[in-house]
Amino acid sequence: MSETALASAYNKDNPFPAVVVENRMLNAQGSAKETRHIVVGIAGSGLHYKSGDSLGVFPTNRQADVEEILGLLGATGDESVTLARTPAPVSLREALTSRLALAGPTRRIVETLAAKATDAGEAARLAGLLAPESKEVLAAFLDEREFIDLLAEFPSARLQAQELVDHLRRLMPRLYSIASSPKVHPHEVHLTVAVVRYLTNGRERVGVCTTFLADRVSVGSTPTPVFVSHSHFGLPEDSARDVIMVGPGTGIAPFRAFVQERAATAAAGRSWLFFGDQKRATDFLYHEEWIQWLKDGSLTRMDTAFSRDQLNKIYVQDRMRENAAELWAWIKAGAYFYVCGDAKRMAKDVDVALHDVIAGQGGLAPEAAADYVKAMKKEKRYQRDVY
Ligand SMILES: Cc1cc2nc3c(=O)[nH]c(=O)nc-3n(C[C@H](O)[C@H](O)[C@H](O)COP(=O)(O)OP(=O)(O)OC[C@H]3O[C@@H](n4cnc5c(N)ncnc54)[C@H](O)[C@@H]3O)c2cc1C
Ligand SMILES: NC(=O)c1ccc[n+]([C@@H]2O[C@H](COP(=O)([O-])OP(=O)(O)OC[C@H]3O[C@@H](n4cnc5c(N)ncnc54)[C@H](OP(=O)(O)O)[C@@H]3O)[C@@H](O)[C@H]2O)c1
Repeated sequence: MSETALASAYNKDNPFPAVVVENRMLNAQGSAKETRHIVVGIAGSGLHYKSGDSLGVFPTNRQADVEEILGLLGATGDESVTLARTPAPVSLREALTSRLALAGPTRRIVETLAAKATDAGEAARLAGLLAPESKEVLAAFLDEREFIDLLAEFPSARLQAQELVDHLRRLMPRLYSIASSPKVHPHEVHLTVAVVRYLTNGRERVGVCTTFLADRVSVGSTPTPVFVSHSHFGLPEDSARDVIMVGPGTGIAPFRAFVQERAATAAAGRSWLFFGDQKRATDFLYHEEWIQWLKDGSLTRMDTAFSRDQLNKIYVQDRMRENAAELWAWIKAGAYFYVCGDAKRMAKDVDVALHDVIAGQGGLAPEAAADYVKAMKKEKRYQRDVY
């Protein structure tokens, strides 16, 4: 098959069965975090990506969770079930392993359990949760539970396999910002994955896809369905333009791709990276690479903010403010400004800092600074990849 034909063969609806070829811890021992460098082989797929794109990954659920649900249902796993928008029936085990999400119960399952509970105590508890005055209690209750917990807590409301399946949503792929440049790694996609593990309601919980990549995929063998999600986020077409990159935590991923690419193509433009994480000693992701790129000039400047190395928190936006004059000089000279990482707090705070720097240094009123930022966005000089 020609490369062009292959290029269109794999997508979200027809993911490529890739193989993970490397899975390495990026945090040093003693870190509170688990961030992994995952390398996915895409040779022979015809998949193409550019710096700034993301990789979609279809995970499977933990086998132990699937077994526990089967046990709670009194099922073998061989039962045939029907899924929405899927013509042929599949086995219950297949549905629970790779088709359906086991987290995120809603009021509807509580209603179903309430209708089926045969134990008076369980029925009363469920009725209490569904009472009109219990809205907040119910929300907090659901927030702390996955479907497994509900089946375990209300065993008298024995559900049939299909009844449970009808309550579960589809297991969706997760996106990861690509941390490599195709100019350097055309047959690989590198990812920077923060593994999600936490404790709720006395139970150890995991993020489905991050633990799929960290724990369940065997390097070199497990087929890992992936697709490239093309993004507007990307380097300026003119490589002589300066770039400012703000990427704390896993937000660093696309900027490793950017600098790798600018180094490989000997781009003339300057680049300035703001990186932050908890502790310098354990969480300075890709430290050696940044040092090398600073040395060879591929990276002009790097400012770090290690939030937990001192009593008061220091974040990337604090470093922006400390370097406001220089930052404004770069922006005024036409630099592109990029942000990647946490959308809930970080990206908002960085946006405020950007407005403040432009207003303060440019001598602009808040409205004029806001217009300036709007114009940057319109010119694609302010781009965000936040999640
Ligand atoms: C464009 C884009 C790019 C992205 N790039 C990256 C990237 O480069 N690296 C990366 O690691 N991620 C990235 N993400 C996020 C990624 O897609 C996943 O959302 C993330 O990895 C979690 O997936 P999961 O399946 O492991 O967790 P899920 O199974 O989806 O579980 C996550 C959920 O668990 C709950 N949760 C998590 N922690 C806690 C806690 N401490 N207490 C209580 N509840 C909690 C929350 O409800 C959370 O929504 C990106 C997302 C997008 C949209
Ligand atoms: N197991 C753990 O202990 C643990 C810890 C963190 C994250 N995680 C997981 O990791 C995932 C994301 O991790 P990540 O590496 O991308 O990022 P992250 O760990 O959430 O954050 C990276 C850095 O950004 C800092 N930060 C926090 N709030 C900020 C703000 N408003 N503005 C600027 N910087 C801010 C953090 O400081 P502070 O955290 O010191 O405030 C940290 O130094 C989350 O999904 C979470 O589940 C796990």
